[in-house]
Amino acid sequence: MIRLENLTGADLSDAIEDIARLRIAVFRDWPYLYDGDLEYERRYLQSYELSDAAIVIGVYDGDWLVGASTGAPLADHAGDFQEAFESSGIDLKTTYYCGESVLLPRYRGRGIGQEFFDRREAYARGLGYRNICFCAVIRPPDHPLRPSQYRPLEGFWEGRGYARLPGVVAHFSWKDVDQAGETVKPLQFWLRSL
Ligand SMILES: CC(C)(COP(=O)(O)OP(=O)(O)OC[C@H]1O[C@@H](n2cnc3c(N)ncnc32)[C@H](O)[C@@H]1OP(=O)(O)O)[C@@H](O)C(=O)NCCC(=O)NCCS
Repeated sequence: MIRLENLTGADLSDAIEDIARLRIAVFRDWPYLYDGDLEYERRYLQSYELSDAAIVIGVYDGDWLVGASTGAPLADHAGDFQEAFESSGIDLKTTYYCGESVLLPRYRGRGIGQEFFDRREAYARGLGYRNICFCAVIRPPDHPLRPSQYRPLEGFWEGRGYARLPGVVAHFSWKDVDQAGETVKPLQFWLRSL
């Protein structure tokens, strides 16, 4: 039996270790190719624990966390994103940020990705936020690890009313599965009003 739960506060903290493992498993695949590190994950996910207005949508199959999606005020991630938004004219304080959506492959294609957005948008709207955004890695079209069967998510995001914010691009480093060390990746921001 699959169920979704909105996790905040102590429930969110309790799920951190499982979310970290899920992120490492799911983001190993294209397009993230992330060679994950549990210590880094714990530190990164702590930013959600420390944020008063953060939410995690947890997907459970029985007791197992099989999917998760995160959200927090953009201002709580300002250190990472301030530069990207600098000349955008977007007010960080009234913008909510969607972090990751990760779902184990066998649970995909049954509407859970849509529900992740429904719930985070409703939560942010309920808190009075005006805009909601997320970012996605940009990979070169001819990247050697791009699977020939990969179905891009851009159409899904556009269908939900999100559009690319021209020039709003953040940069993050991580180690790709096919690289010896970390490399910098550009991440494109997408936004819609609430
Ligand atoms: C993103 C993700 C959570 C979506 O989950 P999902 O439950 O399969 O999504 P849904 O079933 O709600 O489908 C969402 C839309 O994507 C489309 N879609 C379905 N399967 C798809 C697939 N394999 N690839 C791309 N798009 C797909 C559907 O058309 C659907 O749109 P529709 O409802 O208008 O038909 C899941 O694909 C995933 O975990 N991907 C890997 C991690 C990732 O890339 N996350 C996003 C960036 S953080």
